[in-house]
Order: sequence, then C-alpha cells, then structure tokens
Amino acid sequence: MITTGQKIATQRVERSRLQDTDLNNIKFGRVFSDHMLVMDFEDGAWKAPTIVPFADLELSPAALVLHYSQTIFEGLKAYRTANGGVSIFRPQANIARMNRSAKRMCMPQIPEDLFLDALVQLVQLDKDWLPEGDEASLYIRPFLFASDEYIGVKPSDNYKFIIFTCPVRSYYNEPVRVKIETNYSRAFPGGTGEAKCGGNYAGGLYPAKMGQDQGYHQLIWTDGLTHQFIEESGTMNVFFNIEGTLITPALDGTILHGITRESIIRIAQDEGIRVEERPVTVEEVVSAARNGRLRSAFGAGTAATIAHIATIAFGDEEFTLPEIAERRLANQVGQRLDDIRRGRVADPYGWLVPVA
Ligand code: COI
Repeated sequence: MITTGQKIATQRVERSRLQDTDLNNIKFGRVFSDHMLVMDFEDGAWKAPTIVPFADLELSPAALVLHYSQTIFEGLKAYRTANGGVSIFRPQANIARMNRSAKRMCMPQIPEDLFLDALVQLVQLDKDWLPEGDEASLYIRPFLFASDEYIGVKPSDNYKFIIFTCPVRSYYNEPVRVKIETNYSRAFPGGTGEAKCGGNYAGGLYPAKMGQDQGYHQLIWTDGLTHQFIEESGTMNVFFNIEGTLITPALDGTILHGITRESIIRIAQDEGIRVEERPVTVEEVVSAARNGRLRSAFGAGTAATIAHIATIAFGDEEFTLPEIAERRLANQVGQRLDDIRRGRVADPYGWLVPVA
C-alpha cells in the first residue's frame, strides 16, 4: 500500500451521512461523500491543505471564475479490488494532465506529491462510501478555480483547489445513441480543446441539447475548420472498430488526452489488436457503417468507462451497429481494462495505486 509523505490536517464530520444513504440506488454525480480537501493559493504560494466536511463554499459574486470561466477539473476513480482493498486508477496521469490544463489556463501548478497525498488520504477517509458491485466506483473530482474578487479580465492571483468524491455506478444506463455534429464546433486549433476546462463543456451544452431533443444521448464532435474529421464525444473519446482495426482520432491539440483512451490503446496493442491513432474522417466512418464494415464503436472516459455506441446518426441517415454481445474486440478490451482496475488480474502496467 502507498505511504503518503505529508499528513493532511483533517476535521472529520461529526456524524457521517453514509448511514442515511442507499448506495444501491445512486444517480451518477448526485451523491457526495462526507469530506473534501481544500487548498488555497494566495500571495504566490499554496497554503496548507485541509480535509473538512463536504459543505457549500462562500464565494464573492465578483469571483473571477464566475465571469470568465478560469477553472479546470479532473475525473478519476477508486475501485474495490479482488483482494478486499481499494486502489486508485492511474492518479499520476490525472495529476499530470491537470497541471497541463493549469498551464494552458494560466493557473498555478499543483505540487504533484501533495496532490497524490491529498487523493490518497481523502479516499482512505471516505473509502466506506465506495459501493459494492460490478459497475461501482468512487468517482474523484479535483478542480481548481480563480477566486479573485475582481471583474477586470486577467489571470487570478488567488485560487481554490478542491477535491471531493462521489459513490457512482454507470454514467450511461444503456448503449448510447450519438449524432455526428457538423454545424457547431467544440474546439479549434490553438484553442483550449485539450485542456480539461469548464468552458469546453459549457460551449457544448446547447448543441448537445439540440441533439438530445432529437433523441441522441451525445454528439460526436467534428473539427472546427472543415467538419470532415471526427474529434471526440461530449464526455469521452471515441473508438471505431472497422474490420478488426481499432481506430481513434490522434491527439492534435483539440481533443482530450483521455487516460481511459490511452489505457485502451495500450491494452489493445498488447492483446495483439491492430490500433491506429490518426486523423479519422467522417466519410470513412459513415461509409464503413453504410456497408457493414463498422463492427462496433464506443466512447471511453473515466465517468463513462466504455460506453458502447448503439446508433450513429449523420445527416438524415441513422446506422444501427451490431448487438453488444457480438462486439468481440470492444468487449475483450473493456473486460481486460475492468479486470485490471478491479484487481482481478495482475496489473502489468503499474496503473493501480493501492490505498487501503
Ligand atoms: C470524466 O469522464 O471523468 C469526465 O470528466 C467527464 C465528465 C464531464 C463527466
């Protein structure tokens, strides 16, 4: 088990809410564990972190984040493992990505060791919130936002870093219906597409809502310049199995460097599956769907895990993909990833960080 460097001052709840919570009936992202970690950045330096009861924040209406969206976040998960313990999946990768997002959004770097200590100690404290069962995990949400009380446009001098956790099960309860979006854009070259910043998600809400009104769970975004290349879906990266080759858009600065995405690529390659990370055209996906060469498609993300795509719409056409049970490649890779995360097989990559 990992030993942490710095013991973080902790104020425990007087009474846990866990006894009032039915962990068998939870909606994704609606239930929060007892504690959160808070760390402020002031006068050019990080103050000591503290773990305190999960509670509302006090914030000036003039806080910069509320006006100009200088905010970034991460999503990672802790799992119950087959040996009865609890492990966090690839926290170092999320820490590194958060600091890359911070750089792009002109925010301070979070010391990596302290970030890891914070994740470990928060999960250790609230590990009983981790539900039992196949789809269960403890979702961990670190975020950082600009807290200056000021309405001029500038990088904030002060920031708040918070981590809280949520017991979760599936994000999507069924295979998803997606629509290829060729009108609106999520990102463009030189923009913030690969940063995990709040604004990327806010800008996608309106087009996604229009898609939802037409019966689609999510959009598949295309590039902002030509709309001829596939980028990512609203909450996840995307993969296509075209005649046994697993194809996913390359990281070109406009899409998220998904950690689930990277894990899937690594596992698939090690399982002997041909993987191509490259520009993926709408045309090749649509024509593969038209003539039955698209064997499966799925989204990959921390929250969504592997979300099978049931239907893809493009213009007036709608393609129904093969039954989930027939998707050998996607199921094989998904099963292997899940087995590693839950400690059911050896973890050859050192991805799990055991905390309890
Ligand atoms: C995640 O998969 O963790 C995400 O951050 C997606 C989120 C928007 C639900």
